[in-house]
Amino acid sequence: MPAFVRDPLRFWTRLANGYGGVARYRIGAEQHFLISDPQGIAHIFRHDTVRYYRGKYHDLLKPAFGEGLLTSNDEPWRQQRRLIQPLLTKQRVSNWLDIVVSATAATIEAWGDRRDEAPVDFFEGMARLVQEINAKVLFGRALPYQAQPALLSSVSAINGSLLRQVKRAMIWDGMLNRLPLPDVRRFRAAANTLHRTVDRLTAESRPQVDDDSLYGGLTRAANETGSPPETFKIRDQLITLFLAGHETTAVALAWIFYFLTEHSPWSERLHGEISTVLGDRTPTLADLNRLVLTRQVIDESLRLRPPVYAIGRRARVDDEVCGCRIPAESPVVVSPYVMHHHPAYWHEPERFEPERFEPDRVATRPAFCYFPFGGGPHVCVGQHLGMMELLAVVAMVVRDFRLTAPPGRRVALQPWITLRPKPDVRLFLARR
Ligand code: HEM
Repeated sequence: MPAFVRDPLRFWTRLANGYGGVARYRIGAEQHFLISDPQGIAHIFRHDTVRYYRGKYHDLLKPAFGEGLLTSNDEPWRQQRRLIQPLLTKQRVSNWLDIVVSATAATIEAWGDRRDEAPVDFFEGMARLVQEINAKVLFGRALPYQAQPALLSSVSAINGSLLRQVKRAMIWDGMLNRLPLPDVRRFRAAANTLHRTVDRLTAESRPQVDDDSLYGGLTRAANETGSPPETFKIRDQLITLFLAGHETTAVALAWIFYFLTEHSPWSERLHGEISTVLGDRTPTLADLNRLVLTRQVIDESLRLRPPVYAIGRRARVDDEVCGCRIPAESPVVVSPYVMHHHPAYWHEPERFEPERFEPDRVATRPAFCYFPFGGGPHVCVGQHLGMMELLAVVAMVVRDFRLTAPPGRRVALQPWITLRPKPDVRLFLARR
Protein backbone atom coordinates (compact mmCIF):
# COMPACT_ATOMS: atom_id res chain seq x y z
CA MET A 1 0.00 0.00 0.00
CA PRO A 2 1.50 3.40 -0.92
CA ALA A 3 2.78 5.38 2.11
CA PHE A 4 0.37 8.22 1.25
CA VAL A 5 -2.64 5.93 1.49
CA ARG A 6 -1.52 4.47 4.84
CA ASP A 7 -0.86 7.77 6.57
CA PRO A 8 -1.06 11.01 4.55
CA LEU A 9 -0.02 13.21 7.49
CA ARG A 10 3.21 11.35 8.15
CA PHE A 11 3.90 11.07 4.41
CA TRP A 12 3.50 14.82 3.79
CA THR A 13 5.42 15.75 6.96
CA ARG A 14 8.41 13.67 5.83
CA LEU A 15 8.27 15.16 2.36
CA ALA A 16 8.13 18.71 3.70
CA ASN A 17 11.00 18.13 6.12
CA GLY A 18 13.17 16.20 3.67
CA TYR A 19 12.58 17.83 0.29
CA GLY A 20 12.06 21.55 0.89
CA GLY A 21 9.30 23.98 0.02
CA VAL A 22 8.00 22.22 -3.11
CA ALA A 23 8.02 18.41 -3.11
CA ARG A 24 6.86 16.18 -5.95
CA TYR A 25 5.30 12.75 -5.48
CA ARG A 26 3.51 10.36 -7.74
CA ILE A 27 0.20 8.65 -6.96
CA GLY A 28 -1.37 6.56 -9.69
CA ALA A 29 -0.87 8.29 -13.02
CA GLU A 30 -0.37 11.80 -11.66
CA GLN A 31 2.48 13.86 -10.30
CA HIS A 32 1.34 15.78 -7.19
CA PHE A 33 3.00 18.80 -5.57
CA LEU A 34 3.13 19.54 -1.84
CA ILE A 35 3.89 23.19 -1.11
CA SER A 36 5.35 23.77 2.35
CA ASP A 37 7.06 27.10 1.97
CA PRO A 38 5.08 30.06 3.42
CA GLN A 39 5.78 32.21 0.36
CA GLY A 40 4.85 29.34 -1.94
CA ILE A 41 1.55 28.94 -0.05
CA ALA A 42 0.96 32.70 -0.26
CA HIS A 43 1.51 32.41 -4.02
CA ILE A 44 -1.10 29.63 -4.37
CA PHE A 45 -3.67 31.57 -2.34
CA ARG A 46 -2.90 34.81 -4.20
CA HIS A 47 -3.57 33.15 -7.54
CA ASP A 48 -6.34 30.84 -6.36
CA THR A 49 -9.52 30.81 -8.51
CA VAL A 50 -7.44 32.13 -11.47
CA ARG A 51 -4.31 29.98 -11.90
CA TYR A 52 -5.67 27.30 -9.54
CA TYR A 53 -9.07 25.70 -9.27
CA ARG A 54 -10.90 22.85 -7.58
CA GLY A 55 -10.64 19.75 -9.73
CA LYS A 56 -12.03 16.26 -9.98
CA TYR A 57 -11.39 15.27 -6.34
CA HIS A 58 -13.73 18.07 -5.25
CA ASP A 59 -16.34 16.67 -7.66
CA LEU A 60 -16.55 13.63 -5.39
CA LEU A 61 -18.16 15.87 -2.76
CA LYS A 62 -21.00 16.88 -5.08
CA PRO A 63 -23.41 13.97 -4.45
CA ALA A 64 -23.46 15.08 -0.79
CA PHE A 65 -22.71 18.83 -0.92
CA GLY A 66 -24.38 19.69 -4.23
CA GLU A 67 -23.17 22.70 -6.24
CA GLY A 68 -22.46 25.01 -3.32
CA LEU A 69 -19.63 27.21 -2.13
CA LEU A 70 -17.35 24.26 -1.37
CA THR A 71 -17.58 22.50 -4.71
CA SER A 72 -17.96 25.21 -7.35
CA ASN A 73 -15.42 27.22 -9.33
CA ASP A 74 -15.21 30.42 -11.38
CA GLU A 75 -18.26 32.65 -11.90
CA PRO A 76 -20.82 30.41 -10.12
CA TRP A 77 -18.53 30.30 -7.03
CA ARG A 78 -17.89 34.06 -7.23
CA GLN A 79 -21.62 34.85 -7.32
CA GLN A 80 -22.34 32.52 -4.41
CA ARG A 81 -19.52 33.94 -2.31
CA ARG A 82 -20.72 37.50 -3.00
CA LEU A 83 -24.16 36.60 -1.64
CA ILE A 84 -23.12 34.46 1.31
CA GLN A 85 -20.13 36.29 2.78
CA PRO A 86 -22.14 39.35 3.99
CA LEU A 87 -24.44 36.98 5.93
CA LEU A 88 -21.51 35.62 7.96
CA THR A 89 -19.54 38.71 8.99
CA LYS A 90 -18.32 38.99 12.58
CA GLN A 91 -21.13 41.42 13.32
CA ARG A 92 -23.89 39.35 11.69
CA VAL A 93 -22.94 36.11 13.43
CA SER A 94 -23.04 37.84 16.83
CA ASN A 95 -26.86 37.79 16.45
CA TRP A 96 -26.63 34.02 16.89
CA LEU A 97 -24.65 34.07 20.15
CA ASP A 98 -27.92 33.52 22.06
CA ILE A 99 -28.50 30.32 20.08
CA VAL A 100 -25.00 29.06 20.92
CA VAL A 101 -25.37 29.96 24.59
CA SER A 102 -28.79 28.40 25.10
CA ALA A 103 -27.87 25.15 23.29
CA THR A 104 -24.67 24.90 25.38
CA ALA A 105 -26.59 25.63 28.59
CA ALA A 106 -29.02 22.81 27.74
CA THR A 107 -26.11 20.39 27.16
CA ILE A 108 -24.51 21.40 30.46
CA GLU A 109 -27.81 20.94 32.27
CA ALA A 110 -28.21 17.45 30.80
CA TRP A 111 -24.68 16.51 31.97
CA GLY A 112 -25.41 17.89 35.42
CA ASP A 113 -28.34 15.49 35.78
CA ARG A 114 -26.29 12.39 35.04
CA ARG A 115 -26.46 9.80 37.76
CA ASP A 116 -23.74 7.45 36.47
CA GLU A 117 -20.01 8.00 36.77
CA ALA A 118 -19.17 6.85 33.23
CA PRO A 119 -17.01 9.14 31.08
CA VAL A 120 -18.79 11.28 28.51
CA ASP A 121 -18.06 10.77 24.80
CA PHE A 122 -17.05 14.34 24.04
CA PHE A 123 -16.79 13.99 20.30
CA GLU A 124 -20.33 12.69 20.08
CA GLY A 125 -21.53 15.28 22.61
CA MET A 126 -19.93 18.16 20.72
CA ALA A 127 -21.21 16.85 17.36
CA ARG A 128 -24.73 16.79 18.80
CA LEU A 129 -24.40 20.28 20.27
CA VAL A 130 -22.98 21.78 17.05
CA GLN A 131 -25.73 20.09 15.05
CA GLU A 132 -28.36 21.73 17.25
CA ILE A 133 -26.70 25.13 16.94
CA ASN A 134 -26.38 24.76 13.17
CA ALA A 135 -30.01 23.78 12.70
CA LYS A 136 -31.17 26.90 14.57
CA VAL A 137 -28.70 29.19 12.79
CA LEU A 138 -29.57 27.80 9.37
CA PHE A 139 -33.30 27.21 9.63
CA GLY A 140 -34.31 29.23 12.69
CA ARG A 141 -35.70 26.08 14.33
CA ALA A 142 -34.62 22.99 16.22
CA LEU A 143 -34.16 19.67 14.48
CA PRO A 144 -37.05 17.26 15.02
CA TYR A 145 -35.90 15.04 17.88
CA GLN A 146 -36.21 11.83 15.85
CA ALA A 147 -34.04 13.24 13.01
CA GLN A 148 -31.02 13.91 15.23
CA PRO A 149 -29.29 10.51 15.49
CA ALA A 150 -29.82 9.69 11.80
CA LEU A 151 -28.35 13.02 10.78
CA LEU A 152 -25.34 12.60 13.05
CA SER A 153 -24.52 9.19 11.63
CA SER A 154 -25.09 10.46 8.08
CA VAL A 155 -22.53 13.23 8.52
CA SER A 156 -20.12 10.66 9.93
CA ALA A 157 -20.69 8.23 7.04
CA ILE A 158 -20.15 11.02 4.49
CA ASN A 159 -16.93 12.10 6.18
CA GLY A 160 -15.72 8.50 6.53
CA SER A 161 -16.23 7.57 2.90
CA LEU A 162 -14.99 10.72 1.19
CA LEU A 163 -11.28 10.34 1.88
CA ARG A 164 -11.45 6.71 0.73
CA GLN A 165 -13.12 7.83 -2.46
CA VAL A 166 -10.48 10.50 -3.01
CA LYS A 167 -7.66 7.99 -2.48
CA ARG A 168 -9.29 5.50 -4.87
CA ALA A 169 -9.74 8.24 -7.46
CA MET A 170 -6.05 9.15 -7.13
CA ILE A 171 -4.86 5.59 -7.59
CA TRP A 172 -7.39 4.14 -10.01
CA ASP A 173 -8.85 7.28 -11.54
CA GLY A 174 -12.24 6.93 -9.89
CA MET A 175 -13.39 3.73 -11.62
CA LEU A 176 -13.71 1.84 -8.35
CA ASN A 177 -15.94 4.55 -6.89
CA ARG A 178 -18.56 3.67 -9.48
CA LEU A 179 -18.83 0.15 -8.03
CA PRO A 180 -21.36 -0.51 -5.26
CA LEU A 181 -18.64 -0.74 -2.57
CA PRO A 182 -19.98 -0.80 1.01
CA ASP A 183 -18.67 2.65 1.97
CA VAL A 184 -19.90 4.21 -1.30
CA ARG A 185 -23.35 2.70 -0.68
CA ARG A 186 -23.31 4.07 2.88
CA PHE A 187 -22.19 7.44 1.52
CA ARG A 188 -25.11 7.60 -0.93
CA ALA A 189 -27.65 6.52 1.67
CA ALA A 190 -26.25 9.12 4.11
CA ALA A 191 -26.41 11.88 1.47
CA ASN A 192 -30.08 10.92 0.85
CA THR A 193 -30.89 11.13 4.55
CA LEU A 194 -29.22 14.51 4.79
CA HIS A 195 -31.01 15.86 1.73
CA ARG A 196 -34.39 14.59 2.91
CA THR A 197 -33.91 16.24 6.32
CA VAL A 198 -32.84 19.57 4.78
CA ASP A 199 -35.83 19.44 2.39
CA ARG A 200 -38.16 18.83 5.29
CA LEU A 201 -36.67 21.64 7.36
CA THR A 202 -36.89 24.10 4.48
CA ALA A 203 -40.46 23.04 3.70
CA GLU A 204 -41.45 23.56 7.34
CA SER A 205 -39.60 26.82 7.96
CA ARG A 206 -40.60 29.11 5.12
CA PRO A 207 -38.55 32.26 5.90
CA GLN A 208 -40.21 35.51 7.00
CA VAL A 209 -39.07 38.94 5.79
CA ASP A 210 -37.37 39.74 9.11
CA ASP A 211 -36.16 36.17 9.63
CA ASP A 212 -32.67 36.11 11.18
CA SER A 213 -31.82 32.58 9.98
CA LEU A 214 -29.31 31.88 7.23
CA TYR A 215 -32.14 30.39 5.18
CA GLY A 216 -33.97 33.72 5.47
CA GLY A 217 -30.82 35.67 4.59
CA LEU A 218 -30.04 33.46 1.59
CA THR A 219 -33.58 33.73 0.26
CA ARG A 220 -33.61 37.52 0.59
CA ALA A 221 -30.15 37.84 -0.99
CA ALA A 222 -31.17 35.63 -3.92
CA ASN A 223 -34.42 37.61 -4.47
CA GLU A 224 -32.80 41.03 -4.14
CA THR A 225 -30.05 40.23 -6.63
CA GLY A 226 -32.34 38.28 -8.95
CA SER A 227 -29.88 35.34 -8.85
CA PRO A 228 -31.12 32.58 -11.12
CA PRO A 229 -31.76 29.27 -9.33
CA GLU A 230 -29.37 27.49 -11.76
CA THR A 231 -26.37 29.32 -10.25
CA PHE A 232 -27.65 29.86 -6.73
CA LYS A 233 -29.40 26.77 -5.45
CA ILE A 234 -30.43 27.70 -1.92
CA ARG A 235 -30.82 24.04 -1.01
CA ASP A 236 -27.19 23.30 -2.00
CA GLN A 237 -25.94 26.31 -0.05
CA LEU A 238 -27.81 25.19 3.07
CA ILE A 239 -26.47 21.64 2.77
CA THR A 240 -22.93 22.94 2.23
CA LEU A 241 -23.06 25.31 5.19
CA PHE A 242 -24.57 22.61 7.37
CA LEU A 243 -21.88 20.04 6.48
CA ALA A 244 -18.93 22.43 6.36
CA GLY A 245 -19.78 23.93 9.72
CA HIS A 246 -20.52 20.71 11.50
CA GLU A 247 -17.58 18.31 11.66
CA THR A 248 -14.99 21.09 11.62
CA THR A 249 -16.36 22.77 14.73
CA ALA A 250 -17.20 19.52 16.56
CA VAL A 251 -13.74 18.06 15.90
CA ALA A 252 -12.10 21.30 17.03
CA LEU A 253 -14.06 21.25 20.30
CA ALA A 254 -13.23 17.60 21.01
CA TRP A 255 -9.49 18.30 20.57
CA ILE A 256 -9.59 21.46 22.71
CA PHE A 257 -11.12 19.54 25.62
CA TYR A 258 -8.66 16.70 25.02
CA PHE A 259 -5.71 19.12 25.36
CA LEU A 260 -7.20 20.72 28.46
CA THR A 261 -7.31 17.34 30.20
CA GLU A 262 -3.74 16.58 29.08
CA HIS A 263 -2.60 19.94 30.50
CA SER A 264 -4.63 20.47 33.65
CA PRO A 265 -2.72 23.61 34.79
CA TRP A 266 -4.04 25.27 31.64
CA SER A 267 -7.52 24.10 32.49
CA GLU A 268 -7.22 25.82 35.88
CA ARG A 269 -5.78 29.01 34.35
CA LEU A 270 -8.72 29.15 31.93
CA HIS A 271 -11.16 28.55 34.74
CA GLY A 272 -9.63 31.52 36.57
CA GLU A 273 -9.89 33.78 33.52
CA ILE A 274 -13.42 32.70 32.62
CA SER A 275 -14.74 33.03 36.19
CA THR A 276 -13.27 36.54 36.45
CA VAL A 277 -14.73 37.66 33.13
CA LEU A 278 -18.10 35.90 33.30
CA GLY A 279 -18.89 35.37 36.95
CA ASP A 280 -22.23 33.56 36.92
CA ARG A 281 -23.50 35.24 33.77
CA THR A 282 -23.86 33.71 30.34
CA PRO A 283 -21.27 35.15 27.93
CA THR A 284 -21.86 38.26 25.85
CA LEU A 285 -19.81 39.15 22.79
CA ALA A 286 -17.78 41.63 24.85
CA ASP A 287 -16.98 38.83 27.34
CA LEU A 288 -15.75 36.55 24.56
CA ASN A 289 -13.40 39.28 23.35
CA ARG A 290 -11.87 39.48 26.83
CA LEU A 291 -11.04 35.75 27.04
CA VAL A 292 -7.42 36.17 26.02
CA LEU A 293 -5.95 32.94 27.43
CA THR A 294 -8.95 30.91 26.29
CA ARG A 295 -8.39 32.19 22.77
CA GLN A 296 -4.69 31.23 22.96
CA VAL A 297 -5.60 27.69 24.02
CA ILE A 298 -8.06 27.44 21.12
CA ASP A 299 -5.45 28.74 18.65
CA GLU A 300 -2.85 26.27 19.93
CA SER A 301 -5.30 23.39 19.70
CA LEU A 302 -6.19 24.40 16.11
CA ARG A 303 -2.45 24.48 15.42
CA LEU A 304 -1.81 20.95 16.69
CA ARG A 305 -5.04 19.46 15.33
CA PRO A 306 -6.34 21.60 12.43
CA PRO A 307 -9.74 20.10 11.55
CA VAL A 308 -9.09 20.81 7.85
CA TYR A 309 -5.61 19.34 7.58
CA ALA A 310 -5.11 19.65 3.81
CA ILE A 311 -6.36 21.90 1.02
CA GLY A 312 -6.19 20.64 -2.56
CA ARG A 313 -6.20 22.49 -5.85
CA ARG A 314 -5.32 21.86 -9.47
CA ALA A 315 -3.16 24.15 -11.64
CA ARG A 316 -5.17 25.61 -14.51
CA VAL A 317 -2.07 26.78 -16.38
CA ASP A 318 1.69 26.12 -16.20
CA ASP A 319 2.98 27.97 -13.15
CA GLU A 320 6.15 28.39 -11.10
CA VAL A 321 6.25 28.15 -7.30
CA CYS A 322 9.51 28.86 -5.43
CA GLY A 323 11.45 28.27 -8.66
CA CYS A 324 9.79 24.93 -9.36
CA ARG A 325 7.66 24.39 -12.49
CA ILE A 326 4.09 23.20 -11.86
CA PRO A 327 2.63 21.89 -15.13
CA ALA A 328 -1.00 22.70 -15.95
CA GLU A 329 -3.52 20.23 -14.49
CA SER A 330 -1.17 19.07 -11.70
CA PRO A 331 -2.76 18.47 -8.30
CA VAL A 332 -1.30 20.79 -5.64
CA VAL A 333 -1.65 20.42 -1.86
CA VAL A 334 -1.07 22.89 0.95
CA SER A 335 -1.46 21.45 4.42
CA PRO A 336 -2.27 23.37 7.60
CA TYR A 337 -1.19 20.25 9.55
CA VAL A 338 2.25 20.13 7.90
CA MET A 339 2.86 23.85 8.31
CA HIS A 340 1.58 23.92 11.90
CA HIS A 341 4.16 21.24 12.80
CA HIS A 342 7.04 22.48 10.65
CA PRO A 343 10.22 22.64 12.76
CA ALA A 344 11.53 25.59 10.72
CA TYR A 345 8.72 27.77 12.09
CA TRP A 346 7.77 26.20 15.41
CA HIS A 347 10.14 25.42 18.28
CA GLU A 348 9.34 21.91 19.61
CA PRO A 349 6.27 21.73 17.35
CA GLU A 350 4.63 18.80 19.17
CA ARG A 351 4.53 20.65 22.50
CA PHE A 352 1.22 22.19 23.63
CA GLU A 353 2.26 25.78 24.32
CA PRO A 354 -0.55 28.35 24.04
CA GLU A 355 1.94 31.19 24.78
CA ARG A 356 2.95 30.85 21.12
CA PHE A 357 -0.14 32.94 20.41
CA GLU A 358 0.84 35.92 22.54
CA PRO A 359 0.63 38.91 20.15
CA ASP A 360 4.38 39.74 20.11
CA ARG A 361 5.24 36.13 19.23
CA VAL A 362 2.56 35.95 16.52
CA ALA A 363 4.05 39.09 14.94
CA THR A 364 7.44 37.38 14.46
CA ARG A 365 6.12 34.44 12.40
CA PRO A 366 5.71 34.51 8.62
CA ALA A 367 2.17 34.34 7.24
CA PHE A 368 0.96 30.85 6.30
CA CYS A 369 2.78 28.81 8.89
CA TYR A 370 -0.59 29.04 10.69
CA PHE A 371 -3.82 28.98 8.68
CA PRO A 372 -6.49 26.74 10.25
CA PHE A 373 -9.19 28.59 8.27
CA GLY A 374 -7.31 28.51 4.96
CA GLY A 375 -6.43 31.63 2.99
CA GLY A 376 -7.04 33.60 -0.19
CA PRO A 377 -10.45 33.90 -1.84
CA HIS A 378 -11.69 30.54 -0.48
CA VAL A 379 -10.80 31.38 3.13
CA CYS A 380 -13.40 29.87 5.48
CA VAL A 381 -16.60 31.86 5.10
CA GLY A 382 -17.83 30.51 8.46
CA GLN A 383 -14.74 31.35 10.50
CA HIS A 384 -16.40 34.03 12.68
CA LEU A 385 -19.29 31.75 13.49
CA GLY A 386 -16.92 28.82 14.13
CA MET A 387 -14.67 30.87 16.42
CA MET A 388 -17.64 32.32 18.33
CA GLU A 389 -18.93 28.79 18.92
CA LEU A 390 -15.53 27.56 20.12
CA LEU A 391 -15.08 30.44 22.57
CA ALA A 392 -18.59 30.33 23.99
CA VAL A 393 -18.75 26.55 24.41
CA VAL A 394 -15.27 26.29 25.95
CA ALA A 395 -15.99 29.18 28.32
CA MET A 396 -19.29 27.74 29.54
CA VAL A 397 -18.04 24.17 29.97
CA VAL A 398 -14.73 25.05 31.66
CA ARG A 399 -16.47 27.49 34.03
CA ASP A 400 -18.87 24.80 35.24
CA PHE A 401 -16.88 21.54 35.08
CA ARG A 402 -13.53 20.06 35.99
CA LEU A 403 -12.60 17.64 33.18
CA THR A 404 -10.30 14.66 33.58
CA ALA A 405 -9.25 11.82 31.28
CA PRO A 406 -9.59 8.11 32.05
CA PRO A 407 -6.21 6.66 33.11
CA GLY A 408 -4.00 5.20 30.35
CA ARG A 409 -5.95 6.87 27.57
CA ARG A 410 -4.31 7.15 24.15
CA VAL A 411 -5.94 9.18 21.45
CA ALA A 412 -4.55 9.02 17.91
CA LEU A 413 -5.25 11.01 14.77
CA GLN A 414 -7.75 9.82 12.23
CA PRO A 415 -7.40 11.84 9.03
CA TRP A 416 -10.77 11.51 7.36
CA ILE A 417 -12.09 14.55 5.55
CA THR A 418 -11.57 16.28 8.90
CA LEU A 419 -8.90 15.36 11.45
CA ARG A 420 -10.80 13.27 13.93
CA PRO A 421 -9.68 11.87 17.28
CA LYS A 422 -9.43 8.07 17.39
CA PRO A 423 -10.93 6.58 19.48
CA ASP A 424 -13.44 9.17 20.66
CA VAL A 425 -12.40 11.59 23.37
CA ARG A 426 -14.00 10.26 26.56
CA LEU A 427 -13.81 12.49 29.62
CA PHE A 428 -14.96 12.47 33.23
CA LEU A 429 -16.95 15.50 34.25
CA ALA A 430 -17.18 16.87 37.79
CA ARG A 431 -19.25 19.94 38.51
CA ARG A 432 -17.19 22.69 40.13
C1 HEM B 1 -13.39 25.45 13.59
C2 HEM B 1 -14.22 25.48 12.58
C3 HEM B 1 -13.84 25.56 11.13
C4 HEM B 1 -12.64 25.31 10.49
C5 HEM B 1 -11.33 24.87 11.13
C6 HEM B 1 -12.85 25.56 9.08
C7 HEM B 1 -11.85 25.46 8.12
C8 HEM B 1 -12.02 25.79 6.78
C9 HEM B 1 -10.96 25.83 5.79
C10 HEM B 1 -9.50 25.49 6.04
C11 HEM B 1 -11.52 26.22 4.61
C12 HEM B 1 -10.80 26.43 3.27
C13 HEM B 1 -11.03 25.26 2.34
C14 HEM B 1 -10.40 25.49 0.97
O1 HEM B 1 -9.65 26.45 0.75
O2 HEM B 1 -10.65 24.66 0.08
C15 HEM B 1 -12.94 26.40 4.85
C16 HEM B 1 -13.85 26.77 3.88
C17 HEM B 1 -15.19 26.84 4.09
N1 HEM B 1 -15.84 26.78 5.31
FE1 HEM B 1 -14.97 26.47 7.10
N2 HEM B 1 -14.14 25.91 8.89
C18 HEM B 1 -14.79 25.95 10.10
C19 HEM B 1 -16.09 26.32 10.35
C20 HEM B 1 -17.01 26.61 9.39
C21 HEM B 1 -18.40 26.96 9.63
C22 HEM B 1 -19.03 27.12 11.02
C23 HEM B 1 -18.99 27.10 8.41
C24 HEM B 1 -20.43 27.44 8.04
C25 HEM B 1 -21.22 28.18 8.70
C26 HEM B 1 -17.97 26.86 7.40
C27 HEM B 1 -18.19 26.90 6.04
C28 HEM B 1 -17.18 26.88 5.09
C29 HEM B 1 -17.44 27.02 3.64
C30 HEM B 1 -18.79 27.15 2.97
C31 HEM B 1 -16.18 27.02 3.03
C32 HEM B 1 -15.88 27.17 1.54
C33 HEM B 1 -15.60 28.64 1.25
C34 HEM B 1 -15.29 28.96 -0.21
O3 HEM B 1 -14.74 28.11 -0.91
O4 HEM B 1 -15.57 30.07 -0.64
N3 HEM B 1 -16.79 26.58 8.03
N4 HEM B 1 -13.22 26.15 6.16
